[in-house]
Amino acid sequence: MYKIAVIPGDGIGKEVMEATLHVLEALDIEFNYTFADAGDEYEEKTGIALPQETVDVVKASQACLFGAAGESAADVIVKLRQELDLYVNLRPVKSYPGTNSLFDNLDFVIVRENTEGLYIGLEEYTEDGAIAKRVITRKASERICRFAFEYAKKTGREKVTAVHKANVLKKTDGIFKGTFYNVARDYPDMELDDRYVDATAMFFITRPEMFDVIVTTNLFGDILSDEGAGLVGGLGLIPSANIGENQGLFEPVHGSAPSHAGKGTANPSAMILSAVLMLDYLDESEAARKLEDALVEVLREGKTVTRDLGGSSSTMEMAGAVRKKLEN
Ligand code: NAI
Ligand code: MG
Repeated sequence: MYKIAVIPGDGIGKEVMEATLHVLEALDIEFNYTFADAGDEYEEKTGIALPQETVDVVKASQACLFGAAGESAADVIVKLRQELDLYVNLRPVKSYPGTNSLFDNLDFVIVRENTEGLYIGLEEYTEDGAIAKRVITRKASERICRFAFEYAKKTGREKVTAVHKANVLKKTDGIFKGTFYNVARDYPDMELDDRYVDATAMFFITRPEMFDVIVTTNLFGDILSDEGAGLVGGLGLIPSANIGENQGLFEPVHGSAPSHAGKGTANPSAMILSAVLMLDYLDESEAARKLEDALVEVLREGKTVTRDLGGSSSTMEMAGAVRKKLEN
């Protein structure tokens, strides 16, 4: 029995969450869900986007499934990441059949540092413009690199690549790169290398098969993971995990998509794949593979898929098809 916090949020967040919980029911695992509020709708009613009760519910759970927030996303998801110290942002770049993926057999993972770098928000005006500080600490670099190696080991991956710009950002990325090679000494069997971020952006397009696990700082990870999403075909498909020492929060990369909200046209795949990441996090890897395979079958057949995938099925019809595969 797992204690799971569920935050459906706004717009299609609620719809893809309903679809995903419907699919999860077909697994042989017991989940004890606690539903919690956050987002625009809740803010309209109460004046607060992320109530303390919700933070407490997530803290008391083993994992959290998060749908999407609307305009309040920064106050909700960014704040949750900080409150729970979710220092890893994990984004798989994986091509699935029946999608607009630019390549057929991509399968790599980006491990992005989620707490510092340029996103620490230390900006100040100067006489002539403004300055932003980029903070890189040994502590945060060490824990993100260690996570990347542990993740690679656990999931049977063979290579970890550090991505940086240490030739120009000599001090900050010098520390990041140095820490990467220090941590690597504890993983003598793992293949490893490091690359500059600009070259990496090019290799994503020309030779993406060279990557297995990428570990990088906050801004570079943000940009590269959207490039990765572009490689494998669209927001309706891309899941993510935010992981800390005690919690994991799993969410589709997309937002509340107001133009789809209330119509039942949202693709539930990104949320279902976020649940796959949650199952892996909970060490339920057999169930994770089963769920992923069921979704892949539905994508491959292309009969019961949403409009963005070229079909005409609703969110719940597609979820129903995935559930049927699981039950067979
Ligand atoms: P969005 O991801 O909500 O939608 C962009 C477009 O992508 C949609 O118009 C739609 O065509 C497509 N799309 C996204 N998800 C889809 C799905 N599951 N199925 C089919 N098509 C899908 O991003 P947008 O429009 O920039 O933001 C809308 C709202 O969401 C804003 O209020 C924004 O603040 C919020 N947002 C929240 C996030 C979060 O909660 N983590 C992340 C990104 C945006
Ligand atoms: Mg982004």
